[in-house]
Amino acid sequence: MSEATKHTLSPDPEKIRSMFSKVAANYDLGNSVLSLGIHHLWRKKVVQLANVTKGMSVLDCATGTGDLAIEFKKYVGAMGQVIGTDFCAEMLETAPKKSKKENLDIKFELADVTKLQYENQKFDRVSISFGIRNVSDPVLALKEMARVTKSGGLVLVLEFGQMTIPVISDLYNFYSLHILPKLGGLVTGQGAAYDYLQKSSAAFPSREKFLDLMRDSDSFSEVKFTAVSFGIAYIYVGTVK
Ligand SMILES: C[S@@+](CC[C@H](N)C(=O)[O-])C[C@H]1O[C@@H](n2cnc3c(N)ncnc32)[C@H](O)[C@@H]1O
Repeated sequence: MSEATKHTLSPDPEKIRSMFSKVAANYDLGNSVLSLGIHHLWRKKVVQLANVTKGMSVLDCATGTGDLAIEFKKYVGAMGQVIGTDFCAEMLETAPKKSKKENLDIKFELADVTKLQYENQKFDRVSISFGIRNVSDPVLALKEMARVTKSGGLVLVLEFGQMTIPVISDLYNFYSLHILPKLGGLVTGQGAAYDYLQKSSAAFPSREKFLDLMRDSDSFSEVKFTAVSFGIAYIYVGTVK
């Protein structure tokens, strides 16, 4: 395994936190420009696959600026509870303003996804979007997410992966290798973060390989995945034992 691959597969938490603290102010703008807003559709799909009903409790880990937590809150309603957590205070800063603007009551708290402060089986659904790739021990994070989920509840992971469709994948790989890091750098002033995004997405296990990580956590009775946008990203769903 090359040094670059080792780094992208087991990133140092302090370096990750510092990288996101620098990118935080322009993170939403970067997302909208680089995905042309498509990331909102992926989040809606996560909520749809989560099969949430009014009144459910949801924890969104590594919530960043809170987009997935906000999407969940629209579905669980006033009687439901959504908590968004992240270990980077700067990333969390804009989340409460965004939820207030939409009149949605969501709690945002600091938490490391590998050491959650919540009791066993507290939530109906626990999610993480574009976060697991940045965690040094993804299996530990999956175990921890499953620990705080009720038995029979769902853990949902949205993450970049590798495309498997010829031609389309060549075009996307060209975009992500040559255009995305430069454009990300221009929009946010943090080119290194978007270079890391490309390298870590290309190296991170996807499809069956990610399901193997879920199985390794020994927390799920069933695991499955759905590709979105031809496999630019994947949604993994685990039913907690
Ligand atoms: C690419 S951002 C994704 C943010 C948001 N979930 C989204 O979909 O836009 C990755 C987030 O993961 C957070 N993160 C990385 N490692 C973490 C950990 N161990 N515990 C909690 N948050 C973590 C970072 O601080 C950052 O906010």
